[in-house]
Parts: sequence; structure tokens; C-alpha cells
Amino acid sequence: MCGSGTTIDVAKELGRKVIGYDISQYRDDIIQNDARKIPLKDNSVDFVFIDSPYSDNVKYSNHPDCIGKISCEKEEFFEGLDKVARERYRILKPNKVMAWLIGDHWRKKSGFIPVGIRMYEKLCKYFETIDIICITRRKQTSNTGIWHKRAREFNFYLRGFKYLFIMKKQEK
Ligand SMILES: C[S@@+](CC[C@H](N)C(=O)[O-])C[C@H]1O[C@@H](n2cnc3c(N)ncnc32)[C@H](O)[C@@H]1O
Repeated sequence: MCGSGTTIDVAKELGRKVIGYDISQYRDDIIQNDARKIPLKDNSVDFVFIDSPYSDNVKYSNHPDCIGKISCEKEEFFEGLDKVARERYRILKPNKVMAWLIGDHWRKKSGFIPVGIRMYEKLCKYFETIDIICITRRKQTSNTGIWHKRAREFNFYLRGFKYLFIMKKQEK
């Protein structure tokens, strides 16, 4: 789920050996692959970073297996991300760490959906929590007059952060 490859660039800057996958191949150094089935051996990687979709609010690609096509109002969305989490657990070496970035959501029909917390509950099945960090969305597009007006009109808060869950695979 490395999208345009920001994570790959940062990993390279830090001198790490990096492999980036996405369902939609945005550039040559990204491998086209479904996050629910990674072509890597069990217990083979030192660190995983993932920036998953948090609903169908952004159109990432036309790929039919894009989880970002499924609304977080549907259980199917969390079932898909649960498979991604289980696969992360499989490939990570024991005692190594993964970080998962995700935000919450608001829908006119269903109201506030705590997507981050729902996902955190799923991750707790596989990983032990090291820390939870709130990442400020400095350039967020919702900090504008039109969104302030909508928030007042439809009675919701403008969310200015995402969660970064930092978790460890426990030794079995
Ligand atoms: C929030 S974006 C990641 C953005 C990225 N951090 C960047 O800097 O561009 C989520 C990504 O998940 C990808 N994605 C959705 N479903 C997927 C799946 N089943 N397998 C792999 N990637 C998937 C989308 O194509 C999208 O690029």
C-alpha cells in the first residue's frame, strides 16, 4: 500500500533495504501486488510500514481489488484490512516492529466511524502495542471555509490527525 512511493524514498534516504508493493503500480520501483498476499517468506522482514486506505473517500485506481473502493461503513472493509494485518504478522520476524497509519471517518448517513480504533482492535489480535502517535495533517484540505461551513451545518468535527500505531510481533 505504498502508493506514490513516499515510504520507499524515505527508506532509501535512511539507507534501508526496501521493497514497496501496491495494488496499482505507480512507478517502476513499486511491485504490483495485493497486500493480502505478499510474495515473501514467513519471518523474513525487519520492519513494515503501511499507510492503508481508511474508506472509499479517495479514488486510488480502477483496480478491482483496491480496498479503497470499499466503504468503511461495510464490515468487508475491515475484513480486507484484517487479512492485510495477518499477512504483515506472517512476514515480520519475531520481536520486530510494524507501523500502521490510518485515520477516522465521518459519513452523512452513518455519522462518525472510528476507523482507526476499529483497525487498532484488529491489530491487537496479532501485535503488542509499543506506542500510538497522533500525526497532524498539516496540509489537510478540510481546513477551508467550505469544510468549516459543512461541519457546522451537518454537525461533525474536522479531524486534523491520523493515528500511527507502532506495534511489535511477539516471540512465540
Ligand atoms: C493511503 S494510500 C497510500 C499513500 C502513500 N503513502 C503515498 O505516499 O502515496 C493507500 C494505498 O493502498 C493501495 N491499496 C488499496 N488496496 C490495496 C490492496 N488490496 N493491495 C495493495 N495495495 C492496495 C492503494 O492503491 C493506495 O495506493
